[in-house]
Amino acid sequence: MDKFVIKGGRRLTGSVVISGAKNAAVAILPAVILSDEPCIIENVPDISDVNISLRILREMGAVVENLGKDVYKIDPTGIDKVCVPYETARKMRASYYFLGALLGKFNKARVSMPGGCPLGDRPIDQHLKAFSALGAEYTLSQGMIDLKADQLRGNQIFFDVVTVGATMNAMLAAVKAEGLTVIENAAKEPHIVDLANFLNSMGANIMGAGTDVIKIRGVQHLHGTSYSVIPDQIEAGTFMIAAAATGGDVMIENITPKHLESITKKLEKIGVNIEQYDDSMRVWVDGPLVKANVKTTPHPGFPTDMQPQIAALLTLAEGTSIVTEGVWEQRFRYVDELRRMGADITVNGKVALIEGTGSLMGAPVKACDLRAGAALIIAGLAANGITEIEDIYHIERGYDCMEGKLRGLGADIEKISVPDKMAESKNARAAV
Ligand code: EPU
Repeated sequence: MDKFVIKGGRRLTGSVVISGAKNAAVAILPAVILSDEPCIIENVPDISDVNISLRILREMGAVVENLGKDVYKIDPTGIDKVCVPYETARKMRASYYFLGALLGKFNKARVSMPGGCPLGDRPIDQHLKAFSALGAEYTLSQGMIDLKADQLRGNQIFFDVVTVGATMNAMLAAVKAEGLTVIENAAKEPHIVDLANFLNSMGANIMGAGTDVIKIRGVQHLHGTSYSVIPDQIEAGTFMIAAAATGGDVMIENITPKHLESITKKLEKIGVNIEQYDDSMRVWVDGPLVKANVKTTPHPGFPTDMQPQIAALLTLAEGTSIVTEGVWEQRFRYVDELRRMGADITVNGKVALIEGTGSLMGAPVKACDLRAGAALIIAGLAANGITEIEDIYHIERGYDCMEGKLRGLGADIEKISVPDKMAESKNARAAV
């Protein structure tokens, strides 16, 4: 059990290099299964969700080699298992991408129902709808999803809700299906485009990714490729807000500014200065932060994965802000923790009313999910006094060396190992 201990009140200054995108990497790694040759993937973030994906690939029979800091060579030709068991799948939501990739390659898959951040009801009906449309049958039993098809055939898939995961899974399953697949009401996030670019670099024929209609003409074989994952827009946005919350001046490097447009525009309204370059951005504050209203929606709207972080910033701004969550049922679970730090936030359903108090104070808090953890770090950096954040394994699922990068910007943050009391008492009982 590790925790972060932050001594707040230090201005962040200097530059930070953003890692590859979690939500692209966790789809691209399973997508390698579809290749008939080894692939080299660069700019892979060092986060626990990626490490679990690599472990699943190894357990299936792929050969995974680490060629350098963030570069992996993956040879999928020896894969002889099509099952992702509960023990690994429960640890991350994105294990569902193994369904689409295995089905697309072997016409069958057996994957445990996915785990991931607790954000409310997380159905997979749209994933199953897509697999069925392509000709697969599914059964759900004892927590496992089984898929099988004699032959996958292209078809029209219309999603009832805009869903990132089901759009990507439909692409994975359709890429080798016979004929044409048309996905309508598709999600448009940068990681959808990244997965399409990756699959196309292996010889797939995917058009329209990044719009709400994606057309896929099935091909028989996919070949090896060398591909670099896009920068993580949410990690970049999190560092932009950390800079702003501490009144800092930070250069955010290795980013695609276009992917950050909705975040940039909102931060400028709040009073944050931003100067954009080709693949970097300077973010600084030299005046008061002011209230704003934020509503999260699918891309190109303001991302739900930045909602807790911007809420933390708005607790420091002048005036009353309204934050509306438009994607997940339960994305305000962090609010109680921010209140412990002096924030004045009232939640009513999917709407949070934030009375800017101008300052926060350090407190012991708990990360309840990945982005909630990021928000608590931001609050802790800006707060007076010491903040201790427990359950940081949530944060490590999606942020590559968060504390090291923050220390590089002058933050006083340390990762401390604390003995796991439960495990200790179990061991003590076992020893008796
Ligand atoms: N939905 C359905 N049925 C489905 C699938 C989704 O009703 O079959 C609903 C969900 O309940 C939700 C909405 O559709 O209300 C959007 O869900 P989506 O499928 O887009 O989410 P996801 O694919 O499970 C990914 C990211 C999340 C991010 C969302 C939205 C990954 C691994 N996860 O989840 O990332 O919040 O898209 O952008 O890509 C995070 O990184 O912190 C994170 C939670």
